Formats: sequence, structure tokens, C-alpha cells
Amino acid sequence: MRHILCVVLCVTSAILSTCTTSAQRPEGKQSARAVGMEHAVDSILAGLTLQEKIGQLVQYTGGWSTGPTGRSINQEQRTNIKEGMVGSLLNVYGSTVTRDLQRIAVEESRARIPLVFGLDVIHGFKTTFPIPLAEAATWDASAVELSARVSAAEASSSGIHWTFAPMVDIARDPRWGRIAEGSGEDPYLGSVMAAARVRGFQGRDLADPSAIMACAKHYAAYGGAEGGRDYNTVDISEMTLRDVYLPPFKAALDAGAGTFMASFNEIGGVPSSGSHFLLTTILRNEWKFEGFVVSDWNSIGELVQHGTAATPADAAEQAVNAGVDMDMESRCYRDHLQSLVEQGRVSKATLDASVRRVLRMKYRLGLFIDPYRASTPEREAQVHRSAGNVMAARAIARKAIVLLKNEGNVLPLARTLKTVAVIGPLAHNHADPVGPWAGPTDTNYVVTLLEAVREAIPAARVLFARGCGIDGTDTTGIAEAVAVARQAEVVLLGAGESRAMSGEAGSRSSLELPGRQGDLIRAVAATGKPVVLVLMNGRPLALSREEGQVPAILEAWFLGHETGHAITDVVFGYHTPTGRLPVSFPRVTGQVPIYYNHKNTGRPANDSVHFTSRYIDVPSSPLYPFGFGLTYTSFAYSDLTVITPKVKATDTIAVQISLKNTGTRASEEVVQLYVRDEVGSVTRPVRELKAYKRIHLEPGQLTRVSLALPAADLAFTGIDNQPHVEPGMFTVYVGPNAAEGIEGRFEVAGP
Ligand code: NOJ
Repeated sequence: MRHILCVVLCVTSAILSTCTTSAQRPEGKQSARAVGMEHAVDSILAGLTLQEKIGQLVQYTGGWSTGPTGRSINQEQRTNIKEGMVGSLLNVYGSTVTRDLQRIAVEESRARIPLVFGLDVIHGFKTTFPIPLAEAATWDASAVELSARVSAAEASSSGIHWTFAPMVDIARDPRWGRIAEGSGEDPYLGSVMAAARVRGFQGRDLADPSAIMACAKHYAAYGGAEGGRDYNTVDISEMTLRDVYLPPFKAALDAGAGTFMASFNEIGGVPSSGSHFLLTTILRNEWKFEGFVVSDWNSIGELVQHGTAATPADAAEQAVNAGVDMDMESRCYRDHLQSLVEQGRVSKATLDASVRRVLRMKYRLGLFIDPYRASTPEREAQVHRSAGNVMAARAIARKAIVLLKNEGNVLPLARTLKTVAVIGPLAHNHADPVGPWAGPTDTNYVVTLLEAVREAIPAARVLFARGCGIDGTDTTGIAEAVAVARQAEVVLLGAGESRAMSGEAGSRSSLELPGRQGDLIRAVAATGKPVVLVLMNGRPLALSREEGQVPAILEAWFLGHETGHAITDVVFGYHTPTGRLPVSFPRVTGQVPIYYNHKNTGRPANDSVHFTSRYIDVPSSPLYPFGFGLTYTSFAYSDLTVITPKVKATDTIAVQISLKNTGTRASEEVVQLYVRDEVGSVTRPVRELKAYKRIHLEPGQLTRVSLALPAADLAFTGIDNQPHVEPGMFTVYVGPNAAEGIEGRFEVAGP
């Protein structure tokens, strides 16, 4: 009891002092708050038995399972909480149930240390937002931050303290289903989004009851799975690891992420959950991370399947010595840490360091002051799906839509239309638009495309036919769809994937539209009616077959509850589309991995030269490049000036261009700046995104746009695996996507 009293006093004084959300200890003098925290943590630790210390590192699931063995909170687990053998629970939410379990921890256990409740709050809690890939398509960090903020407020009211998000894995192979959960293929955009989400989840102070702790996952390079097959082997160079896969993790850390999750995969023979290099050398020694690391689900136990551990005890030894602090579900720590410490295979200092990290984050969450963190049924009722939250979901959903094609300006549609056909397996579907990892969503709240069209143009006749399923071979409904299309002035055709076709273990070998949807599109297009293809999916699709059939294509991803509203906002011109692709769209599956920031090779692809790096049966370019997205107006780029043609490695490069809205509608352009390091000590990508800016212009308006690029951002990993900014010439491109733009050059001078 004594140490609890001390904790309360320390916490109270800490809250009155300065606050920081960083999981990195500030350099030099510690803040009063940090000193208070260290004092409290030391005092708690000193009072714990070995078993209780291990308990802090153990996390169980309740409710549902993402692994082969599902478990729910049972009497044994309640007893374990009482015995101080559990530090955290996942998949348990709701203020009543979490309060009940927390009460056991803080009133009935000897050490009275509160539990930390974790959950995959990935894109919403009760209000379902667009999937993260879709949110990344907004290229709008403040909108993404708001989405995470709303999710945090909702989840925290239900007793959740910690989300296993953001997923910051770079994904260059869209066969990998988990591409839906991340921000796409680019390290720069991925870093911007990672930081925005951390800020949104954690707010300004983790102790605020509406904040939840973030977890940057899956550390590291989980998205590099060979062939895009989930959980598969990753074999990449340290340069690629550092330059492509790690930057979003570093950005999450710099934004203050309280925790990291060790990934399932191996990298070059070393599983991440046993990788001292990743978890200690880079994360703690180089980056000075002071939060804690949780394993992925049973990823410690899986060290045995990986073949680096002979037994679960070996697995526990490897993981804790590598730097995994908390064991999600494998039971390896629970069952073996005590004897490992007693045998000296794990030192007391290592164990204490892990426990300390967990206690620090509990402290920073304010759990020692209010273990329930103001979660109540009343707060849940007030916050869940509040009008403001639903409005925020609609606002970001419409920004996430990417206009891929708009021949003859079919879009926006006139609001005076008399007859509209809404067709397709995703056109009136409440289940799939929530996408994967939608947590405790209620799919009844999904506004379908059909419902929203009826709402948007109430005077019109709106006809509906499903046509075919998402999957399967049944084509019997296509005739009805064709008949419906014939009666209409225009067709909105909702096609794509089911929510189960992406997300964890949702890898696909084909990126083409599944089932008979291609047949449906062909048959409906053959009526000669203008067809707007509205795609709902969790990954880039290979659309070569459909692209030529229809005049307009909208990539709407999985937009969550406000799906229909967001789409009709765009379709009827209430919102002019501003989304941009966060990932390249291939022409055919066989082109993947295809990403814009590839290397040049010694024989760069040239479709008219045989002996070059290409396929002979498909053009080398993607169908839609990274950064691509049309608007309802047009923009002209001209007059690129490099204001600083020669800079030092410590300077900032300044570039200006002229941008004119040459169309008839006001809109926003996402002006993108890419660079190419012309000659390096190691090969460099053909282009790398380094900055972007959103510019709003009225029709006919001309402006000068200034972009700044710190030369330090040109650093890359050299042959010595150290970062370098090398002197030499760089090409800079400014344009609307990774395949276009006007260019200039600048030089980084030698020292
Ligand atoms: C396994 C997934 O890989 C991870 O992302 C998730 O956070 C955990 N399961 C917990 O649900």
C-alpha cells in the first residue's frame, strides 16, 4: 500500500509539472515529471516479487482471437489477475467489463498495479472511418490526425488505453492483404501519416482520459513478405531496411509513440521477435526509444516454428534478451521467465528493465491516479457515434476518394437527373465497406451507395440491380442489371472486393476484380449508357480490362460508415475530388512489385528496346502511378525555379513553380516534389518524394508555390550502413504525380 500512496503523490505532482508525449527521454536535464515518474516506478518495482514482475510482461486476450487458438476471459484468467500474473489484456472493451477486471487488479491483487487494456483500434471504434490506405490517399495529415483523435476518444470511453496502431509497414506488393492497414508504398508519405496517427491517438498528453497509447507496428519490414504472402520470409539489405522500411517507424517514435510491436516475419534469417539488432541496437541504442515493445500475437511462441528456438523456454529467452518487453498471448513468458531468471539465462537487470518500461507507460497513461480513466457508460453514450464524429468520418471519406478517369467530364453528375441505375455487388452492401480490422463496428450504420443516391437526388427514379456477387461464378443477375441500365440516363456501378479479401491473412494471388464482376461491367457498358465505376477495395487492383470499358472510375476504397454519403458528395459535385494514390496501380498482377521509387538498373526499362529491364507482354509503366488523381478542374505547372542552385548539406533547398487552375471549377491540387540523386556511391532510386503541398485555386487563378527541402532529407544509407548526404547534382521534379512534372537541378556542395 505504501508504494501506491507514493505513486499517487508523485503522479499528482507530475501532472502539475510540464508534459511531454515523447517516448524518448528528453536530452540532458530531466523534467520534474520524468523524475517523478522514475521515482514512482522504482518504488513500485522494489515492492514486486519475481512472479509479479513477470506478470507485468504478460498479455492475454479476452473475447476473440486472431491466432490459431482463441481464448476468452475465464475464471482462471480472473484468478491470474488477482494473483498479479497479468499486466495487460487485449480484445476486452466496454466500460462495464473493463472496470470489473480493473477492479480485480487494483483492489484484489497484492501489488494493485492497474491493467492496461489494448485493442486494434485501426480505423475507428464505434464510428468506422476509411481504412488507413484510403486515409493515406487524402494526403492530408490533419484529417488523418482527426480520425485517430476521434477513434481514441471513442475507444477510451470504453476502457481502452492502448491501440495496436498505426500500422506503418511500407507495402510494395499489393498482393499482401495488409496493405489495407498501412499508408502504401512510400517512406515519406508513410512517415507523414505515421506521425499524424500517433499525434491523433495520443493527443497532447497521454494522461488525458481521451488519449490512447499508440503502437507502431509491425517492427520491422513485415510488408516486405516474399510474394505478398502474409507472415512470409523477408530478405532485404540493411540499406533497404533503413531507407525504405524504417523511416515511418522513426517518424512514429519522434511523434511520441509509446509502444512498438515486434513483427511476425524474419529478416535475413533473424525473426524480428528475437532480433537484438532491431529491438536493441536500432530501437533503443540508436533511436533512444524509452517506451515498451510488445510481441505480435504468439510471435514469441512462433520462434519455435521459425526454427531459431528449440523450445518455448528458448523462445522466451531469445525474445526478452532481444528486447521484447511484453508477450502477447504466447504464454512463453508466463511459463518460462521465472526459471530462466533463476537459471541466469535472463538477467534480473534485463527483466527489471522490461518491467520498468511497462510501468512507465502505465504511469504516463495516468492509470495510477485513475485506473478507470473516466470510462463510464455515460461517457460511452455521449461519445460513441456522436454527430460530430460521424461528420468527421464523412469529411475524411470524401477526401480519400481518387478520381482515376473522367472521360468527357462525365462527372460530376447533374443533380437534375431523372433516372439513375445503381448496380453491382458493392452498390447496396452494408457489410463490406467497413473494410478489414473494423473492430467493434456495427455494419448497420453503413450508408450504402444506393441509399445515398436516393437521399442526394430524392426526385429521381433510382433503380437497383446487384448483377452478381463479389465472388463466385453466378452470372444469372447480369441480364437484370443490363435491363435496369437501359432504363437509366447514367449508371453507377459499385464493384470491388469483400472486406475479407484484405487485412491479416488476406493475401490474393490475383489483383484483378474477383468473380464475374468483369462480365457485369462489360455487359452494362455495352448498353452504351455512361457508366461510373465506383471501386471499393482494400488494395490496388489491376484494372486494364475494365479501364477501357467505362468513361469514369472512382477509387473509393473501403470508406467505412459514411461510404455512400462520401461517394455521392463527389459524384454530384458537392466535393471536388482531391485524393491521390498512395500506391501504384499495376496494369496486370504479373507486374508486381511495381513501385515508383525503384532503382534505374543498368538497363532501364524502354518498351521499344528489347534488352532492357521489362516484360515483353505489357508496358513497363503502371496503369495509374503513385500520386495520381484527377480533379474536376485542370492545373498547369510552369516556371520551375531553384532558388538555391548550390547548397551545403546543412542548408535548405528552395524551389518555386507557377501553378494555374486552367479549368472552370475551384479545387485543390496536391503539388508533389520529387528528387533524384544523379550519381551516388551506391545506386539511388529514380525518384523519391520529399515534400508536397496542397494548394487551393479558384478557376483561372495563378499562384507561385514555394517548396522547401532540407538537404539533410537527402541522406541515404551508404555501403557502411551509415547515413550520408553526398555532394553532387540532383534533379528535382515538381508535378501532379510520380510520373509527370517539370524539372530543375541543384547541387549539394562538398564539405
Ligand atoms: C495479429 C496482428 O498481426 C496484429 O496487427 C494485431 O495487433 C494483433 N494480432 C492483435 O490483434
